[in-house]
Amino acid sequence: MSSEKFKLAVLVSGRGSNLQAIIDSIEKNNLAAEISLVLSNVKDAYALERGKKHGLEVVFLDPKVFPGKADYEQQMIDLLQSKSVDLVCLAGFMRILGEKFIEAFSGKIINIHPSLLPAFPGLNVQKKALEHGAKFSGCTVHFVNEEVDGGPIIKQAVVPIHDEDSIDSLSERILEQEHIIYPEAIRLIIEDKIKVSGRRVLQKA
Ligand code: GRF
Repeated sequence: MSSEKFKLAVLVSGRGSNLQAIIDSIEKNNLAAEISLVLSNVKDAYALERGKKHGLEVVFLDPKVFPGKADYEQQMIDLLQSKSVDLVCLAGFMRILGEKFIEAFSGKIINIHPSLLPAFPGLNVQKKALEHGAKFSGCTVHFVNEEVDGGPIIKQAVVPIHDEDSIDSLSERILEQEHIIYPEAIRLIIEDKIKVSGRRVLQKA
């Protein structure tokens, strides 16, 4: 039976709290999916421990042992295709994906980003939102295309910025919302509830 389940790969580089949120949603039967692979480009990523604790297949793929980015990504493609992965979920994966990888999983790669895109793409965005004086930030789940943090937006959550916020306090409140909207966005895809129309992600009738 499990072979009929929707197959996720979760790509990580660090702490893995979003991976954990996905695992928890599956274990609570809120997501009809299985995680076929947790892949990290960082050897000691805590996300790998989380995966192991839940009996998942985890792989550390060391970028240093490959001659270049293209070879590394080909290895990722081969690995994910060998698992017949239906959806690639980036969850704190700190590498920019190349054209070939994006084409290999066209329309099947999503990412979670800790700002309300298109505001504050890139890195350290909670700090940027705070320093900019924004009154609201939040998080975004989006499809991945060749533009960094630029693909069609699937879901967002708004988080108010308080006068007394630090980078840590804001990041923490944004993260709470990430853990809610990431599994929800995955669910919309699994249940075939959305379609992409240009830049827009719309509910199917
Ligand atoms: C999250 O803030 C996510 O939005 C960003 O990287 C962070 C990953 O955190 N892309 P975690 O590893 O899931 O805890």
